[in-house]
Amino acid sequence: MSDLVTVILAAGKGTRMKSAMPKVLHKAGGKAMLQHVIDAAQAAGAKRNIVVVGFGGAVVQEAVGTQAEVVVQKEQLGTGHAVLQAAPLLREEHGTVMVLCGDTPLLTGELLKKLYDAHREAGAKATVLTAVMPDATGYGRIIRTATGTVEKIVEHKDASDAERRVQEVNSGIYCFEKDDLFAALAQVTCDNAQGEYYLPDVLSILRQKGEKIWAVAADDYESTLGINSRVQLAGAEKILRRRKNIELMESGVTIMDPDSTFIDADVTVGRDTVIYPFTWLEGDTHVGENCTLGPSSRFSDAIIGSGVTAQFVYAHSCEMADGVTMGPYVHIRPNTKLAAKVKIGNFVEVKNSNIGLGTKLPHLSYIGDCDMGGGVNMGCGTITVNYDGKKKYRTVIGDNAFVGCNSNLVAPVTIGDGAYVAAGSTITKEVPPSDLAVARARQKNIAGWADKRK
Ligand code: UD1
Ligand code: CA
Repeated sequence: MSDLVTVILAAGKGTRMKSAMPKVLHKAGGKAMLQHVIDAAQAAGAKRNIVVVGFGGAVVQEAVGTQAEVVVQKEQLGTGHAVLQAAPLLREEHGTVMVLCGDTPLLTGELLKKLYDAHREAGAKATVLTAVMPDATGYGRIIRTATGTVEKIVEHKDASDAERRVQEVNSGIYCFEKDDLFAALAQVTCDNAQGEYYLPDVLSILRQKGEKIWAVAADDYESTLGINSRVQLAGAEKILRRRKNIELMESGVTIMDPDSTFIDADVTVGRDTVIYPFTWLEGDTHVGENCTLGPSSRFSDAIIGSGVTAQFVYAHSCEMADGVTMGPYVHIRPNTKLAAKVKIGNFVEVKNSNIGLGTKLPHLSYIGDCDMGGGVNMGCGTITVNYDGKKKYRTVIGDNAFVGCNSNLVAPVTIGDGAYVAAGSTITKEVPPSDLAVARARQKNIAGWADKRK
């Protein structure tokens, strides 16, 4: 499909969202609606994608980045006017242009391919993707002639009662032959209920010229749902979650309760991983095989090896290698790397640290800005004292060190390989390899003190 060019309309404010943020940047399934559309266009094999931005143009443009070309529609005068803005960028193109809307996050590359193939096969000048909606409110209706061909598209606000009863709607997605599209757009007027230049009017204009216009019906209406309100956004969210969970279960992942498991679109999970309820896998998270995740865990942008176990964990922007166990009640913060077989027990927080092979942080620790070797045992309640109120400092702990319970390691400080720290110590100086550091007041017993006090 290498000659396919798309124009993605994303200039509208999305008034019905009641939001300061442009509609197309609202997320469904953890990803901006516009991003879903760009991904679908790319999956369909488009060679060029042009996004029309307007309301909140700068932020939308930033979100698009280098993924597509951007053109600005200064005033939002309707979808037909929006497509016109792409004309300068399309001067050299004479093939098929697919028009998409930025507010249809459920689209798939497969469906777009189907539309494109049908358009080419029909040899039409314009082909609209339609869907039969259980609730067609708000959509443009497909009005067919007695013989079943498309006569025109009537917007909800312009439609008669009889027309409003039609359940077949315009998905807002079309293929056009480029030269015919722009010739017809020049004839579109804003003589309608909304005073806008409607793109769908191109179809009736081409039809009146005797050109072939065509329609393809989507098998499932869900993929074409257009999101105009937050209630509809929540509906799309549900569908995306369900789709993702089904895709993972079909690839060999056990999800105990799909209704309470929330996995973003681009997350990958290896087979035989088991996901307990109330678990979120977000953003750029990738999970290996044979893990047990949850219940009640949240991973954002986390790279998780195989055989990892986690319950009641929040981990973000971090990596954990094979066989790591975590939880319950663990917080793994950004820029942390846990090597294989690390064990993080209850009520432990780790931040900006590297933890070596098989090291154990079993209970009640704060480890921040620390490079810790392998085979280390950190006693219960041990803390890296990394902050003096102004700056952060690192703690370095060698392989096989043993730190007794309730110790404070005041950074910058180094504990050598195989060194020991006595429980209750506050370490402020380097502990050389294999030494024992005792840094606490010596115990003194006062004989019979309690009896004398009576
Ligand atoms: C549009 C269609 C309707 C179809 C529905 C499918 C028109 C006139 N109507 O209606 O037939 O059933 O989509 O979801 O096309 N936009 C711009 N510039 C503008 C106006 C809109 O870029 O001046 C963009 C919006 O950002 C949005 C898309 O075009 O991504 C559709 O606009 P929207 O206002 O949502 O159109 P609908 O009323 O849903
Ligand atoms: Ca819409």
